[in-house]
Amino acid sequence: MYDIINDAATAYRGVIPADRWRNPYMSREELDHEIRDGIIFWGYEENGLLTGVMGIQDRGDVTLIRHAYVATEHQRKGVGASLLSMLLGQTDNPVLIGTWADAFWAVKFYEKHGFHTVSPEEKDRLLRRYWKIPERQVETSVVLADKKYRNSVPHTGNSAFRNIHA
Ligand SMILES: CC(C)(COP(=O)(O)OP(=O)(O)OC[C@H]1O[C@@H](n2cnc3c(N)ncnc32)[C@H](O)[C@@H]1OP(=O)(O)O)[C@@H](O)C(=O)NCCC(=O)NCCS
Repeated sequence: MYDIINDAATAYRGVIPADRWRNPYMSREELDHEIRDGIIFWGYEENGLLTGVMGIQDRGDVTLIRHAYVATEHQRKGVGASLLSMLLGQTDNPVLIGTWADAFWAVKFYEKHGFHTVSPEEKDRLLRRYWKIPERQVETSVVLADKKYRNSVPHTGNSAFRNIHA
């Protein structure tokens, strides 16, 4: 897992803000911490070789997809799609995914699976509520939401829900 994450994360080099890039991108201690924090990782194996990993984290009223990484030489062959659909089948909750705003390929990948980017205000609110990440990462990230989440958010604007018995 550690090797796949840090190999796949080389895609971020020169793309995400320089002050956010590290090598290795995720240390073994950080990975252990994420697992202790409740992220359940699943792997995709081909002929006994692990080629991709993806995590799922229950956060009560929503489920997060965390840390999606496919080994560089196995990318764009459907591994990510297989992992994502397997994980989405594990929850009935609305699903949210956060990624770097500049990782256009990841945004495209999630959009292909029915996720839409939420507004910048909603993104800030969601990242602060459901993730434990530094403010700088909140600034430089986007959040994508599935249809269930989008349908669960009441419309804003001139319409509102009112308790007519009150
Ligand atoms: C994002 C990622 C998990 C997707 O897994 P994958 O196995 O490569 O994706 P799939 O083969 O299932 O789907 C491919 C689709 O994803 C998008 N995509 C993936 N990599 C892309 C790239 N380098 N450039 C453009 N689009 C890309 C495209 O929509 C692509 O469809 P296309 O090939 O028809 O254009 C994987 O590419 C990866 O590990 N990337 C580097 C790390 C990363 O960005 N992780 C996301 C963290 S939230």
